[in-house]
Amino acid sequence: MKKVVATVLASLMVLTVPMVGLGGNSLGSGQSAYAEAPGQSGSAFDKRITQRFDTDRVMDHIYHLTEEIGPRVAGTDEEKETATYIQEQLEDYGYEVSTEEFDIANRLSGTLVSGDEEFAIRISPGSASTDEEGISGDVVYSGLGLGAGDFPAEVDGNIALVQRGEIPFWDKVYNAQEAGAVGVIIFDNAEALVPPTPSLGANQADVPVVGVTKADGESLLNNGGTAVITIGEVTDQVSQNVIAVKEPKGKKSDDPEIVYVTAHYDSVPYSPGASDNASGTGVVLELARIMAPYPTEKEVRFVFVGAEEIGLVGSRYYVSQLSEGEIARSAANFNLDMVGTNWEPATSLYVNVVDGAPNQVWQSASAAAERLGNDSLVLFERGASDHVAFYEAGIDAANFIRREPGTAALEPWYHTPFDTIDKISESRIKEGGQLIGAAIYDFARKEHPGKGKSGHRRAPVSGEYLLNEDQVAPQSR
Ligand code: BES
Ligand code: ZN
Repeated sequence: MKKVVATVLASLMVLTVPMVGLGGNSLGSGQSAYAEAPGQSGSAFDKRITQRFDTDRVMDHIYHLTEEIGPRVAGTDEEKETATYIQEQLEDYGYEVSTEEFDIANRLSGTLVSGDEEFAIRISPGSASTDEEGISGDVVYSGLGLGAGDFPAEVDGNIALVQRGEIPFWDKVYNAQEAGAVGVIIFDNAEALVPPTPSLGANQADVPVVGVTKADGESLLNNGGTAVITIGEVTDQVSQNVIAVKEPKGKKSDDPEIVYVTAHYDSVPYSPGASDNASGTGVVLELARIMAPYPTEKEVRFVFVGAEEIGLVGSRYYVSQLSEGEIARSAANFNLDMVGTNWEPATSLYVNVVDGAPNQVWQSASAAAERLGNDSLVLFERGASDHVAFYEAGIDAANFIRREPGTAALEPWYHTPFDTIDKISESRIKEGGQLIGAAIYDFARKEHPGKGKSGHRRAPVSGEYLLNEDQVAPQSR
């Protein structure tokens, strides 16, 4: 019976959507048929989003990004391939799409090979580069590398293997260099999913320096033998943002407000980035598809951001290219980053705001949550994603991210090779996508009193919201 109702509704939607998209007059805002009554399933406007939200499509995007493309590190062919895919999807939905390219900083890239095995490494930011052949030598265990006494004579001309702990990485590297090492491998002193990235402070090593996991360090230690380390600087790299603009309806206003819906599509090295952030990318693509036919008073820009993981480079570039007029018209940024983990404790959808204030994005999301009967939202003070760039320009901005209530913890496989599609929860993608989509559509659909950023600001009312669960008793929304 349920299925029949769903099918009938679905056919109604098919009939309704083009009418609204083309005509836009019979079902426009303010019609009584679309009264925004609160309730578990939302207003009729919310239903345009919730009923059309297709989780399978989101999962297809996530599959393509993670299983078919894989890690999408800023500046790589894989990141570029992802941008092309996003552009094609948006064009299929009927958008005019633009891509803006920007330079990114040089980075070190390299390998550690011993026997037949290539080990996962992290390269110290202060590491030396090698020529194409790399450096090779016996791997010589040198304990904690605390002083000259830890380094056997064989280290001279070979590779020192030292364990993390007790003294700074740089001191170990310095001692190894003094002992004549031509390379340094630092292995972790605790089990972890990814190798440590040994920071050398402001120091520059004369030899290549890499980190490996405890398990890999022990394997190198036990197997002995030689290793080859190759490190080179990757230069002249570019990344790109992909942008689809949904024009506001009619010609009522020549300076419509702008809503930015953003998600970064790059990942950290070795990580397929299913949760971080194929999840946000897939959901924003789906929201762009759903919203395409519906008129809105505000201009909506779907911005797919490159090079987030190397320091919010893409979003800062995007905002830097906005004119003063565009900034003045900018109403809000809804940023989706890590919206679908299946890590069991991450039951809350955090709304991270840089200064923790209950801005318009929070207000819009919490109003949508109320209409949909969803109590998973938590307002939290946090940056660390692309909403920061919009916030810095004075635009109300927030990042949506799944976390554990109370601790604000992320899934343990965050930024690891284990952030794969099997760690994505379809039901959480659906819940978050519908909620955020309903909030964005509600916000974009209406004109708000006053233009520009100052017109939107409203002083927080004390006690109206919960900030940082670790400062007050855990509570949802
Ligand atoms: N997806 C994360 C978002 C995030 C937000 C993680 C808050 C943890 C807490 C994002 O991609 C990320 O990893 N951000 C970096 C910082 C950024 C400036 C490179 C981080 O938090 O380490
Ligand atoms: Zn991320």
